[in-house]
Order: sequence, then structure tokens, then C-alpha cells
Amino acid sequence: MMATLCRSVALAVLLTLVSAVDRGNFKSCQQSSFCRRHRAVKPGESPYALLTNTVTVNDAGLVGDVINENNRIVFTLEIYPLKDSTVRIKINEKNPIKPRFEDPYALVKDIHGESFEVVDQSAQGVTVKFGSHRAVVNAKPLKIDIYNGNDLVVSTNARGLLKFEHYRNKPGNEEQPAEGEGEPNALPADDQEEDKDGLWEESFKGHTDSKPLGPASVGMDISFVNSKHVYGIPEHADSFSLRETTSTDPYRLYNLDVFEYEVDNPMALYGSVPVMLSQTARHTTAVFWHNSAETWIDIKKLPDSNVVSSITGFFSSGETDPPQVSTHWFSESGIIDVFVMLGPKPMDVFRQYAGLTGSQNLPPLFSLGYHQCRWNYNDEEDVRQVHENFDKHDLPLDVMWLDIEHTDGKRYFTWDHYKFPNPLEMTANLTARGRKLVTIIDVHFKRDNNYFFYKEVHDRDLFVHTKDGNEFDGWCWPGSSSYIDMTNPEAREHYSDTYRLDRYKGSTLDTFTWNDMNEPSVFSGPEITMPKDNLHPGIGVEHREVHNAYGMLFHESTYEGHLKRSDRRLRPFLLTRAFYAGTQRSAAVWTGDNTAEWSHLRISQPMLLSLSVTGITHVGADVGGFFGNPDANLLARWYQAAAFQPFYRAHAHLDTKRREPWLFDTETLRIIRKSLRQRYQHLPLWYSLFYENELTGAPPMRPLWASFPEDEATFGIESEHMIGSALLVNPITEPGAVTANVYFPAGVWYDIEDLSMHHGPSHKVVSAPRDKIPVFQRGGSIIPRKDRVRRASTLMREDPYTLVIALDSDGKAQGTLYIDDEHTFDYRQGKFLYLAFSYEGGVLTSKKIDPNGSYDTASWLERVIVIGLHKQPTKVSVNSATVGTRDLESTFESGSATQGSQLTIRKPGVSMREEFTITIH
Ligand code: GLC
Repeated sequence: MMATLCRSVALAVLLTLVSAVDRGNFKSCQQSSFCRRHRAVKPGESPYALLTNTVTVNDAGLVGDVINENNRIVFTLEIYPLKDSTVRIKINEKNPIKPRFEDPYALVKDIHGESFEVVDQSAQGVTVKFGSHRAVVNAKPLKIDIYNGNDLVVSTNARGLLKFEHYRNKPGNEEQPAEGEGEPNALPADDQEEDKDGLWEESFKGHTDSKPLGPASVGMDISFVNSKHVYGIPEHADSFSLRETTSTDPYRLYNLDVFEYEVDNPMALYGSVPVMLSQTARHTTAVFWHNSAETWIDIKKLPDSNVVSSITGFFSSGETDPPQVSTHWFSESGIIDVFVMLGPKPMDVFRQYAGLTGSQNLPPLFSLGYHQCRWNYNDEEDVRQVHENFDKHDLPLDVMWLDIEHTDGKRYFTWDHYKFPNPLEMTANLTARGRKLVTIIDVHFKRDNNYFFYKEVHDRDLFVHTKDGNEFDGWCWPGSSSYIDMTNPEAREHYSDTYRLDRYKGSTLDTFTWNDMNEPSVFSGPEITMPKDNLHPGIGVEHREVHNAYGMLFHESTYEGHLKRSDRRLRPFLLTRAFYAGTQRSAAVWTGDNTAEWSHLRISQPMLLSLSVTGITHVGADVGGFFGNPDANLLARWYQAAAFQPFYRAHAHLDTKRREPWLFDTETLRIIRKSLRQRYQHLPLWYSLFYENELTGAPPMRPLWASFPEDEATFGIESEHMIGSALLVNPITEPGAVTANVYFPAGVWYDIEDLSMHHGPSHKVVSAPRDKIPVFQRGGSIIPRKDRVRRASTLMREDPYTLVIALDSDGKAQGTLYIDDEHTFDYRQGKFLYLAFSYEGGVLTSKKIDPNGSYDTASWLERVIVIGLHKQPTKVSVNSATVGTRDLESTFESGSATQGSQLTIRKPGVSMREEFTITIH
């Protein structure tokens, strides 16, 4: 008896240690009625058919009626070919009793149509050709196949899981029958047998969702033909190549504040990007399910059957059917609006998606430096000591962060007068050392009539309402709080105006912003968030329609606030926890409240990759882990990993031990210093990649397959990533590990520390002692660096550059460098330098890529390192308009079969402004 008791106590203790999340706070699919209803749809019995005689063609695309033959409800199908190998498919009710919500927030304004022709139209269906692509619509049952050239790449409703719940009046509550072909008041035939629980009201943990509009969900299956790997749909603490959900819940997209989230599961987290990419050796293809309501996605990998390969068959089974990943998407409301991006290569898909929702704005350079955060730096003295200690210990630092305790009782835009009496002076101390400050502004506002911001917004009635039309009162950090209705342009204007320096007292143009709890987190709400039947008076919709976009509306207004306060001259910087498709246009994202455990360090890799490939590229995870206390080994490995991830910030929970780097032993401090320096050294590379990200959508942190799309061995890899196409990084995420098993794709790779050489494709065990993160430069690349050690990135602006040239087997290499003033929008007026470096036949040349750009940089070329030359050169010379031709000093260390040679060329002395050549004789 006693033994059993002890065992169960031990088990309970173990469970609280291992499995911290309280799953009971969040709905499972079984507890969500629309999730159950969509999962219950039987494949192969689709009642939806296109009425081919209704199909009309207009300038933009094709429109036709689709009927649900079970209940005679009619829908409108629209197909729009778009520029850049993209096609949009929309399905909406033809005669809804009330217009259905269409998300106006994700897309950029200028999406352009592509010319197309209808090449086939018959009773069986319609074929539309655009560019080298085709959309083949099979009429009955409805199915739309998308071909890239002759290859079928995406098939929608191939499994027949389309289900569109039309709006209807509540049974027993019928007023007027609505116009239209259907009988919207009657329960449709296909609903007769189904699970009726939760159609008109749904309860969860004592919260009742009143569902005034009744069931209104939409869903459809989308098959990625010939594919085995799909990625994306952040945010989940799960693998990068997404798993099948046949024996788990579907992946859920519903922005939630999940306390102590667990790794390796499909539960929803803080943000949602309903975008999925499929990677095969022939095609990269992506789908954007454009819907801002709660969404679930099932994934099933079908090795070789059940897919349709042509318009003539539906569920044609047999040997000819290719393998596929069949995905099933369903959202609680809205319409079906799907964009298919046809690649065919990863870089094409990144660009195509950026064409729909925009790309990451070039961040100010300081935001790519290192950020020091903690909940909380207690007072001005604490802040001073911390950043002075960074100097004392030779640790670069760009930004100090202040969490919620810096405010007057969690009233955002205010300061605690005892602890932070002189914020302007505190900030001036930071900026004198080239540093910045970030303060937190959450989305909930304390209900206190003496608090200026609350009072103003309350008086103008700009908060979210309850279903009964009262100002919603939810519990969050300040206690009783109201949530600003960001769907309302007036609320956005009012809030963004509050960033003006005369309104946000104590802030300066060097104060930047952290937007948190914007899922929104409501401690007293269902699933710790806002009731779905709350109302947004701004656009007159229920919260359920916009839930996943709400956090983005908030941070977009912050961005606007930063623009306003500088007369639109300076680049904003802000960090958000909640996100949606389009977040990249205005914010950086971090992965929320992780834990100081190795598994959380490991999962940061796939989480950041998932965000990166879905457009949100300025991303990071709390270094050290938010909850708990990392030991020195974990902390050091985390600093190493994050030095090579896009957003680099340490953060910790209020209850954790202080963990600034100098509080650890000297060896750990040394490793952290080394990581920070490696980061600062590579800032020119990161910055150039972020510029290119704005231009092309290509993420700075990339999966290996972005550079090696034909190499199937890379498709399942998440422990490694590329920075641009030049560096391959394999962070150590196992306790005590001093080696790593690295996959090297084709080519030659050089360890950036000791130049040891690896030829791919191959798997190799490389050494990774405690002070080393395995990072390799690809032969064929040129990396710009700044090697002088400074306190902050702003102090490096005029520093000279080093170019590191790693030769490929043909003795060639290429790279780029972007330079501007690092913090204003002047680059959009042509004040920049965008340079291409190329090395071939012993000659390095620098040329402007964009002749329209010019920037008067004082930076010059200090050093060139060439790795992989076969013999020592006899002479090295430089030539440019201002220096003429002159010989340069160099040193040569020869290589071996396993190590690259290194030629170091000293002081070419040319300005980065001018075109030059360096010749190696
Ligand atoms: C949330 C944030 C965390 C922050 C805390 C207090 O938990 O995710 O980063 O420190 O709120 O503001």
C-alpha cells in the first residue's frame, strides 16, 4: 500500500516535471464540434458538383455554381489565375442569409491577375490554362487539379472531404425563408445523420459559446501529389517535416497562450500562418488557406494510392496512382479561399507567397544584434548595472528590455515612478553606448478611469464588446482589463498616436516595442482567450471571425505608431508573440514561453524554420529557456545556437535565478562571449540577407532543401539549417554531446573555425567540443564580415569589412553585400549599396548589382581571406579608380587533403563605394 502510494506520488511529481502543460485548458478535436464534424466526413462520397452550364469567364477568371446535391444549397466557385505561377480558388455561399466574413487583413493590396484561356469546356468540366500551368475542374464530383507543366502537383477535393456549412436560421426560430436555391431554414439532408452536439451552442470548461449564427464551418482536402514532405503551418512545437495526424489530433491553428507548452505535439500555440509547402525533387508547391478563424489540419501520407491523376477518375485506385500527402483543412467560419503557389523551386515559392502577403521589412541593424531581457530588470540601477557589466566583460549588446513590472501597475505607456523615475536619463545612458531600449506594451488595458489610455479608449467606445454589447472585461496581468478593438480604424489611429513622444512620456526615438499577450490572452476566458461570441464593433463581426488576425492588427498598429512618431523616417522595430499571415510586414516574432530544457533548445530549430518558410523570418526563441533554470552547459549551447538564428534575445521568467553571462564560470562566460562575437562578426551577412528577404521573400534562415531542392536526403533534416546559401549550421542540442552527425549536401564545405574540409553528399561525425558550434561555409560562397569587436552594432557602422571567399571545386565563388545607414527608410530613395562579389580565374571583382543605389559609406576593405587555393600565389594586387593598381601583402597557409588552405590578403584599402578587382597571380 505504502509502496503504491510512494510510486504514485513519484509519478505525479515526475508528470509535473515532464508534462507541464495543462491540456485540460485547451480543446481537443473531440471537444470542438466543427472539428468532429469535418473529421467525420467520409472520403469518396462528395455531394458537391459544378453546374457546368453556369460557368462564365470574365477578365479575372472563371465563375460557376456548385451545388451540394444532398441539400441543394448552391455555392459560387471562382478560379483566378494570378501573376507569378499562382492560382486562387474561392468557394462561397451563393445566397447566404448574411454575408460571410472574408479576411481583409492578410493580403497586400496589389495582387495581379494573369492572362489565361479556357482550353476545354464540356459537361465533364472546364480546363483553364495560364502560363505553363493548368487548372482542370472536374464537374461531378467537384475536384480541381492543378498542373505545373504536365505534372499534377495539387488536387483539391480529390478525397471528397469538401464540406461547406451554409448559414441557416436556428431550428424553431425560423422567420423568413431566405432567397435562393436552397432551403436554408431546413436542416440539410447531409446534416441529418451527423453529430448535432454543438451546432448552436457549445460549452467548454464552464464557458458557453452562444453561436448565434450556428454551424458555419468550411473544409476541404488538398493533396500534394508525388510528395512525401510538407512543412509550415506554424505555430506548433513540433517537427519541421510535418507528421501524419492519423493517430493524434489534427494540427490546430488558433492563437493561444499555452502555459508551459510541450514539445512534439500538434497543439495550437501563440500564432497561426495557414500556409503549407510541399517539397519534392521536381517541385516546391505551397498552399495558403486564407482564413482567420480557428482552423485544424489533418495530414495523411498516402504512399501510392487513392489519388486521382486525371479529370476522368475520382479515387481511381491502382498502381498508376502516385504517392501523395493528403491534407484536410477546416475552419470554423469564413469562406474557402485557397492560393496555390506553383514554384517550381523553393525560392520561387518564397517570392510567390511574399507577392500575396508581403515580405519582412528590412529591420534596423541593431535589431539583428544581441538583446538582453528578463522579467524583470527591477529598476534603473539594475538596468545600468546590467549593461555596464556587458562592457566590463567585453560582451556586445544592442538592446535592453523592460518587461511589465516597469509600468505603473501594468498600465502600459506609463512608468513605475519609484523604480523608473528618470526613463529619459536611463535611455540616454544606453544610447550613449550605442544601445536601445525596448518596453512592453500588451494588448489588454487596465480598467481604471484614472489611467489615461483606458479612459480615452473607453470614452470613445473603442474596446471589444461582449455578445450583449457591453465593454468586455477580461482578466490579465493588470487584473480586470479591456481589449482594444483593432478592427476599428479609429482604435488603430488612437493607439498608434499614443506612440508620439509627447503622448508616451519617457519614451524616445530609441525606445522600441514588445507586443505581448495579443492572441489575445484572457486568463478568465475560454481556453485562456477571448470568447468567440464577443463582438468587434469596428467591422461588426464576432471575434471568432478574426481571432487569428487580432494579434497582427495590434502589432501593425504599433508599427504605424513607430512610423508616426518619426514622421515616417525611421524603421520601426517591434516583437510580437501572436502572429498571422502578413505579420512579417511589421514585426519580429519569438516562440513564447519555452522552458530551460534541452528538448526546447532542440525544438527551436524546427519552430524557427517553420516560421521562416511561411514568410515570418525575423524569428527567435528565448535564449536559455523562459521557465526554469538552465545549467551552464545548456545556456552556453543555447547562446551558440541562437547566434546563428535570426532574432537573438535572452529572456527569463520572474521566478528564475538571475542568469546574466558573468554569473557563470569563466569558461561558460568565454563561450558566451565567443558566440556573441561570432554573431556580430556575421552581422553584414545577416543584414544583406534581410535586405534580400525584403526584395525576394527568401528567408535568411533556411532549410537545407532551399539550397538543395533536388537532394531528397535534405527533406527530413531539421537539426541543420542554412544561413542564406553560404553557411550550414548544426547547433548542438543534446546534453554533453561533443560531436555532431552532420549531413553535407553536394559540394565542398569548410569549418569556419579550423577550415577542416568536408565533401558532400555525405554524413560525417564532426567534433563539437563545448566551446564550438559546428558551422561550415559552402565552397563557392563569399561572406562579408566585420571583425572588429565593439560594444554594439551601431558603433560598427563605419568599420571596415573582411571578405571570406571559400572556393568551389572550379575555383569560383560568389556573394553579395548590402550597405546603408542601417536605421532610416532612405534606402528606399536609393541611398544604399548593393554589391555582387565574384571570384573566378584568380580575380575577385566587386560590382554594383543595383546601379540606382549609392551610399556614401566610410567603410573600406580591410582583409580578404581566400580558402581552398591549391598553391601559394606569387603576387596579389588590387585595382580600383582611386587606388590605381598596387601590390598587396598576403600570407598563405597551405592545406591538406582534409583541410582548406588559407590566403590572407591584408589591407586592400579600397572603399566599399567603388568597384574594384583583386588579382591573385
Ligand atoms: C508572457 C510572455 C513573457 C513575459 C511575461 C510577462 O508570459 O510570453 O515573455 O515575460 O508574459 O510580461
